Amino acid sequence: MNITIVGTGYVGLVTGTTLAELGNSVYCVDVDASKIAKMKNGIVPIYEPGLEEMFLRNIQADRLHFTTELSEAIDKSEVIYLALPTPPGEDGSADLSYVLGVAEQIGSLMTNYKVIVNKSTVPVGTADKVREVLLSKTNSPFDVVSNPEFLREGFAVEDAMNPARVVVGSTSERAKEIMSKIYQPFTNTGIPIIFMDEKSSELTKYAANSFLAVKITFMNEIANYCEKVGADVDHVRLGMGSDDRIGHRFLFPGIGYGGSCFPKDVKALIKSGKNENYDFKILEATEKVNQKQKVILAEEIDDYFDGQLQDLKIAVWGLAFKASTDDIREASSLDNIRIFLERGAKVIAYDTVAEENVRKILGDQIEYAKDMYTALEGADCLLIATEWPEFKNPNFKLMAEKLKNKVIFDGRNMFPLELAEQNGFYYKSIGRKTITP
Ligand code: UDX
Repeated sequence: MNITIVGTGYVGLVTGTTLAELGNSVYCVDVDASKIAKMKNGIVPIYEPGLEEMFLRNIQADRLHFTTELSEAIDKSEVIYLALPTPPGEDGSADLSYVLGVAEQIGSLMTNYKVIVNKSTVPVGTADKVREVLLSKTNSPFDVVSNPEFLREGFAVEDAMNPARVVVGSTSERAKEIMSKIYQPFTNTGIPIIFMDEKSSELTKYAANSFLAVKITFMNEIANYCEKVGADVDHVRLGMGSDDRIGHRFLFPGIGYGGSCFPKDVKALIKSGKNENYDFKILEATEKVNQKQKVILAEEIDDYFDGQLQDLKIAVWGLAFKASTDDIREASSLDNIRIFLERGAKVIAYDTVAEENVRKILGDQIEYAKDMYTALEGADCLLIATEWPEFKNPNFKLMAEKLKNKVIFDGRNMFPLELAEQNGFYYKSIGRKTITP
């Protein structure tokens, strides 16, 4: 099948490459000519493990094409996926101007039946809005389908090729048949495709992400309480997670959730609720708790040094919002660094892949180390903000040599407590006993 993807951001690119891998001829459209030129030359514009290989393989097989010409791509395909940004507006609601703008262009250009598939995370009722825009521009037949994606950054290829489920929101039999055909390689291997109406499908995405944000936040509160009563969150987590109604995943406490999805989607669902006079109290609390959790260790560090952070040097391991990505959107590292800088401390940071992105925001307000140990030279303490595997089993002897004080604040519970104890470190993590030498 010929498929067009409008928007070659993270979702569009991964979706396009996956659909090509499933045997379709995919036309990726973007207004950014330099990006399109790069991709034509085989350059993947984002960091995502496993993507480059699949991307190059499909270009070589002549199944993945790139263009800035929307009209050309529309002519070629019956199915058009929209993978456009929906950034939060000032009030938290999703900005639909890109989605509706492109819908308008498609309406003006299309001359025969098309299925317009919404891949972007959009508020309930967006399929209806896209439909209205198209109706105002064309007399050709069409269907609008909601087909949310559930990709995790860092695991996008794995998630895209082996999804837990495919959700398709459509009340049109013709469109449902086409979508079934596209996802047949999945259904053949037992991956369920769940059909529902457009609105339920749109809400499924928000509900899933918000639930996970609540789950993490609940665990963060349990962790904070563990510290108060002398319990160990690792035990509690295992005990709880073994009940398969709860499950072990997304129960890891830390310094809050970040990234491009959870914060945005929680905000947007709260706002959508308000539009209907409904208060999502649990989500409002989640947002508040998360905001505080993100900087819980910056405040602990401030306490540790008796509120005297000025002229201290603080090393930060990890800048990305989580491991396996260079994405720093809503990263806890940045909130902590801002507090350190405001209070007069110097910061020296190291990240496996995200340094370049942080440079764009913080420039030379902080120092960047070439490796994890160099970051520690002469530092008064270390904050671990991202769970990169390279931090998991460090050389504690070398750390002790480089750091001015043997003090670690760990926002991702990277080490067993005994390891810190044996190596004579002050070690403060989340929801566990503080080790004092
Ligand atoms: C998320 C959803 O998982 C995905 O289905 C959706 O399509 C997009 O949003 P992503 O933002 O890539 O994916 O990251 P994810 O792995 O879900 O982690 C989100 C945040 O939660 C990170 O900041 C991570 O550190 C944090 N997290 C996750 C925890 O603090 N504890 C956990 O147990 C799991």
